[in-house]
Amino acid sequence: MEGGAKERGATIRGDRLWRSLMELAEVGAIANGGVCRLALSDEDRQGRDLFVRWCREAGCSVAIDAVGNVFARRRGRSDSLPPIVTGSHLDTQPNGGRFDGAYGVMAGLEVVRALNDAGIRTEAPIEVVAWTNEEGTRFAPSMMGSMAFAGLLPIGTVLGSRDAQGCVFGDELERIGYRGEGLGERRFGAYFEAHIEQGPVLEETGHAIGVVTGGQGQRWYDVVLTGQAAHAGSTPMDRRRDALLGAAQVIEAVNRIGTGYPPGGVATVGHLSVSPGSRNVIPGEVSMSIEIRHPDDRKLLGMDAAIREAVAAVAGRVPLQARLDMVLDQPATPFDDACIGAVREAARAESLRYLEMISGAAHDAIAIARVAPAAMIFVPCAGGISHNEAESAAPQDLADGCRVLLRAMLACAGGPE
Ligand code: HGY
Ligand code: MN
Ligand code: MN
Repeated sequence: MEGGAKERGATIRGDRLWRSLMELAEVGAIANGGVCRLALSDEDRQGRDLFVRWCREAGCSVAIDAVGNVFARRRGRSDSLPPIVTGSHLDTQPNGGRFDGAYGVMAGLEVVRALNDAGIRTEAPIEVVAWTNEEGTRFAPSMMGSMAFAGLLPIGTVLGSRDAQGCVFGDELERIGYRGEGLGERRFGAYFEAHIEQGPVLEETGHAIGVVTGGQGQRWYDVVLTGQAAHAGSTPMDRRRDALLGAAQVIEAVNRIGTGYPPGGVATVGHLSVSPGSRNVIPGEVSMSIEIRHPDDRKLLGMDAAIREAVAAVAGRVPLQARLDMVLDQPATPFDDACIGAVREAARAESLRYLEMISGAAHDAIAIARVAPAAMIFVPCAGGISHNEAESAAPQDLADGCRVLLRAMLACAGGPE
């Protein structure tokens, strides 16, 4: 499963890439082949430590910024030039797979290793980044590290955020030893991120590469519905203020709104907690998440209004108090034409079938695109399944994507004289 193509002497070794991915997947391994490395957990620290060790073994210097983003730097011939950067994230969902995020970081490391093998010193420096808390599961919102780097999230908001147990982000960052210095002052010449598609399109259409032209817009909300806890046996049905009944109606409305904005609209309730959560107490309070996404910002605004209206209508009907806080507002983001072109040309040069597409999932590249020319490279994943222990990708597809990454980066970094 060699990488095959020679990019001016640098050869991606698919076997080495696969070995690194499988070794990383042992950190935080869970049943059914999954991985759980929640942001700033001990497992996240172990994953970071492994990445840092490998980068240093590959001759990179390593810097950590104030929100824990890890920058591994390979010197260039003209080291003062802005680096050509790649990367992704090492944190995962609680039921994460072995490739979401990890692939982009390991693919960047493989590019460095391939350049080392070939003795190539690029004109511009090369950097590989592991962004902090891309998933936004333990600490909301997602893409905290890349958004803080891009100036889209105040550092105080990041460091002060709390998880469901009340742990503070800044303290946890300190605890795992990744609270560094500085934020966002690094300038990138270009940023490329390799990622599994996390959807079914490439596999179903038989394309090896997704040339990603941008990311869809998204909005995240925290909603709290408050009714009245009461005795399940002695409270008549017409005297109840059942917060979970309200939540059920909100969930149905969210699904209706998600399907009501084709093509591309999606809406999800992914988290719900019921209080007091006893079988013989009418739920007095429910906290729930809502997220909406759409490639078209105007449609996203329409979905936003419909969500707010639906929550207010349910509160009036049950009746309940309702509190809705928007915790993420990310507009649809186009990637850079020249970077998209570099990915397209690289796929062509590797004789790989490619498809130009918008990303359904959010990625750090979407935040970085606000401060640097950026684009993404997708590879297929089995059945389009991700955010699931069953997430799977073919070694050859991963190697193909890495070869495209190498070419695109060299096109910008300037290869050997
Ligand atoms: O939510 C997302 O799109 C990303 O996978 N965190
Ligand atoms: Mn990801
Ligand atoms: Mn993810």
